[in-house]
Amino acid sequence: MSAHDCSPDCPIARRAFLRDVGAFTAALVATGLAPSAALGAATPIRALSRERAEVRYPIPAKDGVRFDDENEVIVVRNVGKVYAFALSCPHQNTALKADPAGTGFYCTKHESRYRWDGQFVSGRATRNMDRLKIRRDGNAIVVDVDTWYESDSEPAPWAAAVITL
Ligand code: FES
Repeated sequence: MSAHDCSPDCPIARRAFLRDVGAFTAALVATGLAPSAALGAATPIRALSRERAEVRYPIPAKDGVRFDDENEVIVVRNVGKVYAFALSCPHQNTALKADPAGTGFYCTKHESRYRWDGQFVSGRATRNMDRLKIRRDGNAIVVDVDTWYESDSEPAPWAAAVITL
């Protein structure tokens, strides 16, 4: 986990909150929200396995964004790089969505927008999306869902939390 106490804004609290709205992705898919023009459809992704805080996923075969509601992870492959993000907005924990305009993610609560790599673009949030610790293991990616990096307080590990294919 990041080296800070768990405030109401921390990802653990966010995960508890998001469990209460776990139908997010199902609703996203069910409503037919337009797929990302840049990355293709936002689709659910299933973990290959989970051992304690580590969750394994297949390396996405092509560019796209995938939501794992159960583990509250967003997996993105974009231009040869793979990222894992906390599902919740870093402002006030609202579940993020893929922007129908195909430019990245957005938050419906205060309309913050982010690029596919999690960089903040506009809105009320004050930092980039939180990146989860990630590593490659053969043809899988392994995400530590209990270790996240905030771009404002941990810029170096945040920047390094990426897999280059
Ligand atoms: S909760 Fe996302 S911008 Fe406020």
